[in-house]
Amino acid sequence: MNDDRRRLAVLVSGGGSNLAALMDACESPEYGCEVVLVVADRDGCGGIETAQAAGIETAVMRVRDFPHRDEWDTALAEKIAGSAPDLVVSAGFLKMLGPSVLRSFPGKIVNTHNSLLPSFPGIHGPAEALAYGVKIAGATLFLVDEGMDTGQILAQCAVDVREDDTEETLLERIKVAEREQLVRTVGAMMRDGWRVDGRRAFLKNPRG
Ligand code: GRF
Repeated sequence: MNDDRRRLAVLVSGGGSNLAALMDACESPEYGCEVVLVVADRDGCGGIETAQAAGIETAVMRVRDFPHRDEWDTALAEKIAGSAPDLVVSAGFLKMLGPSVLRSFPGKIVNTHNSLLPSFPGIHGPAEALAYGVKIAGATLFLVDEGMDTGQILAQCAVDVREDDTEETLLERIKVAEREQLVRTVGAMMRDGWRVDGRRAFLKNPRG
């Protein structure tokens, strides 16, 4: 196996379809990455089961098991650091990351969000997009900062909103595009790098 593979630590809270897409991509040597750690903030996440079945190190770190949120954040930073990741991928992780995690991996944490930011940040993006009546929805991959869904945008993809869409059908259409974007962009970041210029972020090889 190629020892130069880039190391991905993935944070999940749910079913983990984005994680599964990354793991599938990592099966191919050309992708050049491996998932080395999966952390969930709650019990019962499909993402943890998927990772365990593949023999990947996992951890469940619940805020309520720590006296203060700061201590959860510090423990999370230490757990992630132990896996020596090249990139931390928040993939459906439903907690804001705190200062310890942000300081430990400056500029090396990405999050995938199921709306076209800056519209509809937060956890109800597709439902709010549908309720607002937009004709195009989508997903955004961005660099995590201390704000909620406010970091520099690395990639965005659009899907049509159809007249007969429900929250569920729209969410599923977004997630298909979102997974493809996540895999493509993380691969390009890890193989060729990226740069940040103020509010703007650029892949060094956007076709990579
Ligand atoms: C994704 O659509 C992400 O944007 C949102 O939660 C979903 C996670 O899906 N925050 P999964 O757990 O990767 O299937």
